Amino acid sequence: MTAILGISAYYHDSAAALVVDGRIVAAAQEERFSRVKHDDRFPKNAVAYCLSEAGLAPADLDYVGFYDKPLLKFERLLETYLAYAPRGFRSFVHAMPVWLKQKLYLPRQLNQGLNGEYRKRYIFTEHHESHAASAFFPSPFEEAAILTIDGVGEWATASYGLGRGNRIELTHELHFPHSLGLLYTAFTYYCGFKVNSGEYKLMGLAPYGQPVYAEEIREKLLDIKEDGSFRMDMSYFNYCQGLTMTSERFHRLFGGPPRSPETRLEQRHMDLAASIQLVTEEIMLKMAQHVHRETGMEKLCLAGGVALNCVGNGRILREGPFEELWIQPAAGDAGGALGVALFIWHQLLDRPREVGPIDSQSGSLLGPHFSENEIRSFLESKRARFHHYADDEALTSAVVDLLTKEKVVGWMQGRMEFGPRALGSRSILGDARSTAMQSVMNLKIKFRESFRPFAPSVLEERVDEYFETRPREESPYMLLVAPVRESKRANVNGEMDRLQGIDKLKVCRSEVPAITHVDYSARIQTVDAARHGRYYMLLKKFAERTNCPVLVNTSFNVRGEPIVCTPEHAYRCFLATNMDALVLERFVLLKEEQPEAARHEVDKYLAEFQLD
Ligand SMILES: [Fe+2]
Repeated sequence: MTAILGISAYYHDSAAALVVDGRIVAAAQEERFSRVKHDDRFPKNAVAYCLSEAGLAPADLDYVGFYDKPLLKFERLLETYLAYAPRGFRSFVHAMPVWLKQKLYLPRQLNQGLNGEYRKRYIFTEHHESHAASAFFPSPFEEAAILTIDGVGEWATASYGLGRGNRIELTHELHFPHSLGLLYTAFTYYCGFKVNSGEYKLMGLAPYGQPVYAEEIREKLLDIKEDGSFRMDMSYFNYCQGLTMTSERFHRLFGGPPRSPETRLEQRHMDLAASIQLVTEEIMLKMAQHVHRETGMEKLCLAGGVALNCVGNGRILREGPFEELWIQPAAGDAGGALGVALFIWHQLLDRPREVGPIDSQSGSLLGPHFSENEIRSFLESKRARFHHYADDEALTSAVVDLLTKEKVVGWMQGRMEFGPRALGSRSILGDARSTAMQSVMNLKIKFRESFRPFAPSVLEERVDEYFETRPREESPYMLLVAPVRESKRANVNGEMDRLQGIDKLKVCRSEVPAITHVDYSARIQTVDAARHGRYYMLLKKFAERTNCPVLVNTSFNVRGEPIVCTPEHAYRCFLATNMDALVLERFVLLKEEQPEAARHEVDKYLAEFQLD
């Protein structure tokens, strides 16, 4: 037996992944255990979990891999600071103690993290190699082009190459400071959202605006080449020398200082979001076209933070030259942990790779699960009132009853998802046909901004009935956006065309308004029997009852909180919000029956998590 542990840490989204004899046994992000969102510390809880899943101790591991090369990264930081000295000095002083303490002494850190029990080799792969490995090795393709698009690793900010059999080779790189990820992050920062976590909000905001600044971005900020590579005019940015993303020149160009977090969103911010989103999509498409020309491949694998831009991914699939697309669900740095482990197994140890009809990511359900016994004793210890159902048939029937009454249901079952999306194991569910659902879920359940869209889960066999996709088009990881079919849309009295910005939210846009964005797009998760088991059964039953194969699926957490992991996290979140019911495996709890519900303090709960 060969056991390989992959680790990513010290940047954002620390994670661990365990590969045993080539099989992905477990993978999880540290934030789910530590309850600190995007936790970047050594993933000691995630490592402990991965080892326990296989019944291993650190001493049983054959290899431990780290997802990037700290010395190269140090060199990049040093050179960048020197190039911008003395202006760069402030951020130099800011960053260096952390670097000296953690990253340069990485083997020592890793030793400590593994309790001094691991005495074999550490292997370091390059950042983009890790992303590329995570995109290709689990994919269902024998051979494919690979494209990684990211913020920055060591020097590379994007790269492409080929995967074939059990090997990958990256042949081309785009280098820091020119970076599509950092460009997008600069606009995220400017619009008042958090760097490295608010990018999703910016993407969600874009459909409320018009891309009126796109030309300015293309002309002034960038020099985009035909192959999708580009240079940025660094006088508009400040991330090389300062502690902010954008410079005074940038602020002058776009009409004022950055928006302060939590202040009112103006039409200008929505237009900026629409503009940078459009330019990002154009660059992604150009890159994909170039990679297609150069490699001659029919299939494409994607990873890196920008591969979480599901609107861009959807356009690559629909407009780009590739026939098929596979995107690593943990496309950000967490996925690097999985990438390095698979890279060691296939590429360094030269072990063969078997390609099946579906990918080897196991639905990305790679985290902890909890038995009915564990859940029962937890619930009894809390004196919670619950109903237990003997089989899945009875359970899903009961949950469909709740959903059709517009109840909001916390749904926890099976193994936790690896990657940022909830895929039906740690989800909050609702009826997508409800006109009130989007607002109720945003304001009363998740306590987050009202503009944010919700995503649908849809039965794979009926996806093209509601969305403009091919029949049975797969999107099991919720990484592709597609338009809602024309026949399902609504535009009462042309209101959608008349209203602007956030006001569009008030209009019922389709038969499934809760998951239809104001530009009629939806970020789809397709649900199939092979990957999703009980969740598939629930959707199937909901569709039988209502003839609608679509549910709202949002992550099981409140704003700023990492997605729940354990029954206890789920139970606390259930009590602290206006969620109506909680499903833990085959246990169902109703809010009105809970003795503790009335006493729970929402504000105290929310205060535990920093606004994201
Ligand atoms: Fe990365």
